[in-house]
Amino acid sequence: MSANKQLHIPKTIVLVGLMGAGKTCIGKRLAKRLGLTFVDADDEIEKAAGCSIPDIFELYGEPAFRDGERRVIDRLLNEPVQVLATGGGAFVDAHTRARIKETATSIWIRADIELLLNRTARRNTRPLLQNTDPRKKLEKLIEERHPAYEQADIVIESGHESPDVTVDQAIEALEKLLPSSDSVIAEATQ
Ligand code: S3P
Repeated sequence: MSANKQLHIPKTIVLVGLMGAGKTCIGKRLAKRLGLTFVDADDEIEKAAGCSIPDIFELYGEPAFRDGERRVIDRLLNEPVQVLATGGGAFVDAHTRARIKETATSIWIRADIELLLNRTARRNTRPLLQNTDPRKKLEKLIEERHPAYEQADIVIESGHESPDVTVDQAIEALEKLLPSSDSVIAEATQ
C-alpha cells in the first residue's frame, strides 16, 4: 500500500490458524496499519466466563469452551469492522466458519510445525498441548484442521521473517481481494 493511500476495509478481518501461528501478534499490527480496532476472541471468552481458558477447560470441559467460543465470535462479528484474532479451533467449527465466510474476510496464517512448536513451547496456557506430546498433537491438528483453514479467503505464510513482513503480505493480499471500486477511498495527503 503506498504511503499516502488508505485501504478501505468493508468487512471485519478474521485471522485463523493453528496455535502459535501468530494470529494475535499479526492481528495487532495489521489493525494498527489499517486504523482498525483489534480484538482477540480468546480474551473476550475469558472476560465473558470470568476465568482463564485453562480453567474453562478444567472446570467445564472443551465442549463448554466451544459453545462459549461460538457465542462470543457471533457477537464480535456483529460489531463494527475490526480485526479479530480467533483461537485455533474457531474456524474448524462449521457454524463459526459459515458466519465468518458470510460476514468477514478471513486470513489463514499458515506456519510450519517447527515454528508452531517453538512458539507454543513458550507458554503453558494452551490446554490442548498440556500433558501430551506437543509435536504429535500439533501434527494431528494440522491433519484435521488444514482442510478447514484452506477455506479462508486469503492464505499468508508466516516464517522467521519479522511480523511486519507478514503484515505487508496480508495488506497486499487484501488489496488484491477487495473490489477496486472500494479498495482505496482516501488520499491521506489531500
Ligand atoms: C485452541 C487454541 C487457543 C485457545 C484454546 C483452544 C485450539 O487459541 O482458543 O486453547 O483449539 O486450537 P490460540 O490459537 O490463540 O492459541
